Amino acid sequence: MERIAVLTSGGDAPGMNACIRAVVRTALNNKMDIYGIERGYAGLVKGEINRLGSRSVSDMIHKGGTFLKTARCPEFKDLEAQRQAAEALSAFGIDGLVVIGGDGTLRGAKDLSDNFGIKVMGIPATIDNDLAYTDYTVGFDTAVNTVLGAINNLRDTMHSHDRVSLLEVMGRHCGDIALYAGTAGGAEYILVPEIPYDLDEIASKIKKSYLRGKTSNMIVLAEGAGDRDEIAKIISEKSGISVKVNNFGYIQRGGSPNMADRVLAARFGYKAVELIRDKHDSCAIGIKDNKIITVPFEEVSKAEKKFDNRLYNIAHVLSL
Ligand code: F6P
Repeated sequence: MERIAVLTSGGDAPGMNACIRAVVRTALNNKMDIYGIERGYAGLVKGEINRLGSRSVSDMIHKGGTFLKTARCPEFKDLEAQRQAAEALSAFGIDGLVVIGGDGTLRGAKDLSDNFGIKVMGIPATIDNDLAYTDYTVGFDTAVNTVLGAINNLRDTMHSHDRVSLLEVMGRHCGDIALYAGTAGGAEYILVPEIPYDLDEIASKIKKSYLRGKTSNMIVLAEGAGDRDEIAKIISEKSGISVKVNNFGYIQRGGSPNMADRVLAARFGYKAVELIRDKHDSCAIGIKDNKIITVPFEEVSKAEKKFDNRLYNIAHVLSL
């Protein structure tokens, strides 16, 4: 009987549990033994591997986080750590692995496959949506909606007090959370790492908007686009209007996954097990134009993420 294992690695994302559930139940449906690895590659290296059954994933579909736990594991770049991982899998007789996570997770999958011939299927799950080869990653939609809820709340209080608000959201290299939540929340300014911005210009526009009767403004800042306190200070000094700063932080990484993420998780998890069953080469799974796709790992790192400039412009025009 075929034996496969599943792990989650890197930053958690809502929908990871729904994805593990899909992998476990599809494996059982295909008469495979299924094992769960704790704490991602860090746990794999240490052989933290346990048998899972259908009931292991009961009542998990709606829960944020990951019940298998996750970890960042920079040492997995080393061949020695990969060797230990391969040995742990072999000790359990595991012939296929499904990894769920972001770019670092997929890099680890490629290394295990290239260097030790392990059959690995990679499922993209990160709130950042920063993987170019796929339109969406598991967790992004939920995180954006969580941020949107915060923007709605901020609008109420900022509007009542005629204030300017700056909300920092996650996204070190990729501004998608800021772009989508900012567009949906009617933010006047969306600051992302992909697009240069001019604080003098923003301050002067905010000042002018006050003069024509627009008394509250919302700035959504992706964390990688600059220092929130510094930006707020400069805008306040130049416009003469105080800016209230909020960092939304880890709140946006938790919470119950929404419909889009649960369905995406189900489709990805199901596909990953099918690919192992059908002896497909190791690869990353993604979605393009609502079709599930497979992409060789080497193309994952080569693909360059394109920022949606058109949506950015639309958001700007509509907010003024
Ligand atoms: O998972 C990606 C991410 O959400 C980034 O946007 C953020 O910068 C990072 O995780 C922070 O995560 P941690 O502190 O857990 O490494």
